[in-house]
Amino acid sequence: METGDKGKQPKGVDPKILPGTFRPKAFDDHTGSLYLIKEAPPPYYPHHVGGTIDTDILENAVRDRQNILLIGETGTGKSHVLRLIAYRLGLPYIRVQLYDAISPEDLFGSWIPSAQEGFIWQDGVLTHFMRHGGMFVADELNGAKPGMNFVFHSITDHERRMTLTQKDGEVIYAHPDFIFCATMNLEYEGTKPLNRALFDRFGVVLEYDGSSAIKKMFPPELVCFKDKVDEAIRAGELEGVCSVRSLQQYMRNAEIFGKEVAKRVLVQKFEGIGKEAVADIMEAVGL
Ligand SMILES: Nc1ncnc2c1ncn2[C@@H]1O[C@H](COP(=O)(O)OP(=O)(O)O)[C@@H](O)[C@H]1O
Ligand SMILES: [Mg+2]
Repeated sequence: METGDKGKQPKGVDPKILPGTFRPKAFDDHTGSLYLIKEAPPPYYPHHVGGTIDTDILENAVRDRQNILLIGETGTGKSHVLRLIAYRLGLPYIRVQLYDAISPEDLFGSWIPSAQEGFIWQDGVLTHFMRHGGMFVADELNGAKPGMNFVFHSITDHERRMTLTQKDGEVIYAHPDFIFCATMNLEYEGTKPLNRALFDRFGVVLEYDGSSAIKKMFPPELVCFKDKVDEAIRAGELEGVCSVRSLQQYMRNAEIFGKEVAKRVLVQKFEGIGKEAVADIMEAVGL
């Protein structure tokens, strides 16, 4: 908010929030949680969305206990921003990569041998967050095994509950501070379109595209390099991805090993004949 506008705001009303429509419940004190983020995350350059910024939208969506879905290519800041919001709000945070071989036991829990009692039940991470609250981030939601989707359905609809069939049928209702977030990556093979009914349960869906943040994160010649490489990839002249991560690696390598080594490493991210084209682009943009 510009200082010049301050006088127009009614006293005591946060200008980001429509008066009278938004009364979120405060979060519990989670300072004892093992899943709290202790160190401040690195700086984040927000995205502009509908006259506001993504961090404000997400912060308020979390305070409103909405289900949140972020869609976009890899490296566009989806994980970064969710972690930042959890940190700012003092919420426990966990990110689970569904694309990997995560097992139902990891998510829900399992019986483990105990010296005293034979077997005791140990909660999985999703169960833990449902019981105690916090931000649970399901990464690559569209890569989840079909058998897991029914659980996401039941925790995201208004009853917000899950049943531990592997245990004794215990029904868990979500803690008031349980926040379900998911991310979806559109570019990988093997991902499926998200089931409509599940998609429908997300109250806030934002699309991520890295371009505005990239301009602020990297020097102009590197931004220009990425633009030209992306263009060549779209035209089918080059194979590979020019990700934000590879540009960050370039910056790091240039600092440690010098520019020439960093450039050679960056070229390796592309395939076959494309390597020469990439080297030409580097030269053309003055990298
Ligand atoms: N807007 C941004 N501001 C600051 N850093 C960013 C931004 N977008 C991406 N990054 C950085 O780029 C890298 C990839 O971001 P990440 O959140 O892991 O992407 P995603 O989850 O979308 O694949 C991280 O190191 C992250 O800090
Ligand atoms: Mg991510």
